[in-house]
Amino acid sequence: MTRTERLILRRWRDTDLEPFAALNADPVVMEHFQGLQSREGSDAFVGRIEAQWEAHGWGLWAVEVPGVAPFVGFVGLWPADYVTGQPMVEVGWRLAHPFWGHGYVTEAAREALRFGFEDVGLDEIVSFTVPQNERSRRVMERIGLIREPSRDFDHPRVDAAAYPELVRHVFYALDRETWRGRQAPAAPG
Ligand SMILES: CC(C)(COP(=O)(O)OP(=O)(O)OC[C@H]1O[C@@H](n2cnc3c(N)ncnc32)[C@H](O)[C@@H]1OP(=O)(O)O)[C@@H](O)C(=O)NCCC(=O)NCCS
Repeated sequence: MTRTERLILRRWRDTDLEPFAALNADPVVMEHFQGLQSREGSDAFVGRIEAQWEAHGWGLWAVEVPGVAPFVGFVGLWPADYVTGQPMVEVGWRLAHPFWGHGYVTEAAREALRFGFEDVGLDEIVSFTVPQNERSRRVMERIGLIREPSRDFDHPRVDAAAYPELVRHVFYALDRETWRGRQAPAAPG
């Protein structure tokens, strides 16, 4: 579990399953995905998230906003090896619509970068989305990810016949040294 100024970033609880299924069935949240997720699909995703934490010690946090809501969505790190076949870790996010517009994702994602670079020891963290997902791109830019057009790609898991507008993905990345160079120096003494 990790705390930031306004948030608790934690492992998942059974009580998260219902609100998570609700946001995965919300057409506004899922606008840039291949359809809505069923309750079964949503629960299975949580199972994969917790299996990732157990196996590797990093993954997607459940995000809690004390005094506001016990579960608002997820932010964290997720394996993205399938993009190129090489080991790759993305920072990702999905929030219930009533909680958009408060900077919660930006706050949690900054902690995900710190956690990934300092605690997990990653060399690089990437992120990607469809070009039209402007809110997600704004988060990427706000947390300092660098746009790398030469690494844009066609998503291998998108059904191109059914969802042609979801195939092409814009790519952003940040390496540890660049991230470290931007952190405020420690106070002397
Ligand atoms: C992508 C998504 C997570 C972004 O949510 P968000 O609320 O825009 O992101 P944040 O929580 O960082 O909030 C940032 C917004 O809050 C505003 N804000 C208010 N208080 C703020 C604060 N203290 N700090 C930072 N931003 C603040 C910002 O101005 C910004 O709004 P703007 O982009 O209109 O300028 C959300 O839209 C979502 O869940 N979408 C569906 C799932 C999805 O597409 N996931 C990504 C797939 S790649």
